[in-house]
Amino acid sequence: MTSFIELLKTRRSIRRFKAQAVESEKIEWLKRALLSSPTGKHANDWEFVFVQNKDMLAKLSQTKEHGGEFVARAPLAVVIASDTAKDDNTWVEDCSIAAFNLQLAAESMGLSSCWMQCRGRKRNDGSLCEDNVRALLNLPDNLGVLCIVAIGYKDEERKPFDWEKLQYEKIHEEKF
Ligand SMILES: Cc1cc2nc3c(=O)[nH]c(=O)nc-3n(C[C@H](O)[C@H](O)[C@H](O)COP(=O)(O)O)c2cc1C
Repeated sequence: MTSFIELLKTRRSIRRFKAQAVESEKIEWLKRALLSSPTGKHANDWEFVFVQNKDMLAKLSQTKEHGGEFVARAPLAVVIASDTAKDDNTWVEDCSIAAFNLQLAAESMGLSSCWMQCRGRKRNDGSLCEDNVRALLNLPDNLGVLCIVAIGYKDEERKPFDWEKLQYEKIHEEKF
């Protein structure tokens, strides 16, 4: 098992994947990673849609104008949505944590991933990515769609982080 710090160092967004499917046992662990993610007030209002159908992956990749093409090249994508209707909710935070837990869990099992932002994104025809995803997957209107995480075995290499070259100027001690 790769150490957590090593995962942080080597995890990079991967947008090219091999055709190899993700094994069902690994998919079960990905589900556990999502469902054990913390949420504000323990609301657990999220919903997750696992998609492996090639046609649907291609359609999802086109739900915004740019930056989602890699979803069509992945063997698996997880759509991360949540009820947005409740007052005082933390749906964006809850979904973000779940999405990144998913990415790290994938990484820990030798898989790679990339986040496709949906919330706030559009197609050139003016349609919202969230509406387009809702229509494709029959999601109810009360569910906001934060993102789609594409997962698979990588077919490109990305450099790991160099600890010496991080932006340490972003870190402040005691006061800004
Ligand atoms: C909130 C968020 C939204 C992102 N949306 C997209 C996206 O729509 N398309 C894409 O190709 N990458 C997307 N990414 C991946 C980022 O481009 C990537 O994380 C960033 O360039 C840093 O690279 P790294 O993940 O390899 O460290 C997103 C990442 C985050 C955290």
